[in-house]
Amino acid sequence: MTVIALIVAAGSGQRLGGGLPKQYRLLGSRSLLRRAVEALIGHPRIDAVRVVIGPGQDARAAEALAGLDVGEPIVGGAERAESVANGLAAIPDGIVLVHDAARPFCPPSVVDRLLDALQSHDGAVPVLPVADTLAKGDRVLTGTVERDRLYRVQTPQAFHVEDLRFALEEAGSRRATDESSVLIAAGLRVATVEGDENLHKLTTSSDWERAEMLIAAQMV
Ligand code: CTP
Ligand code: MG
Repeated sequence: MTVIALIVAAGSGQRLGGGLPKQYRLLGSRSLLRRAVEALIGHPRIDAVRVVIGPGQDARAAEALAGLDVGEPIVGGAERAESVANGLAAIPDGIVLVHDAARPFCPPSVVDRLLDALQSHDGAVPVLPVADTLAKGDRVLTGTVERDRLYRVQTPQAFHVEDLRFALEEAGSRRATDESSVLIAAGLRVATVEGDENLHKLTTSSDWERAEMLIAAQMV
């Protein structure tokens, strides 16, 4: 079955700030988007990588992706969910790995775990345990939350394209932060596989600084 990695890169990077959308900013010597693509493009079990970009960003994307075989960029929407839906509409049936451009260091072993788990599930997502105590409340705490079975969910997330299309249709206009929640809401079975600290999403400037340190120390 065809495996396509769909990298969503149509956001505006508000929380990182700095004018240029973060996916086009240089992280060390290469842009965030280029790093995210390069981490997946050579994987032996991935047939193609496609990229979803913001409207009017063709020149920036072409520069960031020069020489990489990713086909024509797909134009995304105002919300991440819309960008994913536009991407899904542009790819054939098979398996899709939906991935954030904001996660530049995907280890190949995570892709292997996801594709193995997908053989017996409708979807598969990389997760990590929650280390800190989680508490409820506002200015005064009202309790803590059992964290034994709580996870931080990362991307790439693996699905059968038809299942994800069905789940998105079922969800209608209900917004979800990621695709696994849409699949679960549609009654489909999503497996967890072990994630990786290097899959951390770069959201704020401290995430960015940490990523630069990892590159400088040759740890990624
Ligand atoms: N994304 C997208 N289309 C959108 C919004 C987000 O393709 N309309 C993508 C981003 O480019 C990013 C991924 O979804 O690769 C995860 O989103 P996030 O880290 O929130 O990035 P931004 O939305 O760009 O940042 P912010 O929320 O701080 O504005
Ligand atoms: Mg966002």
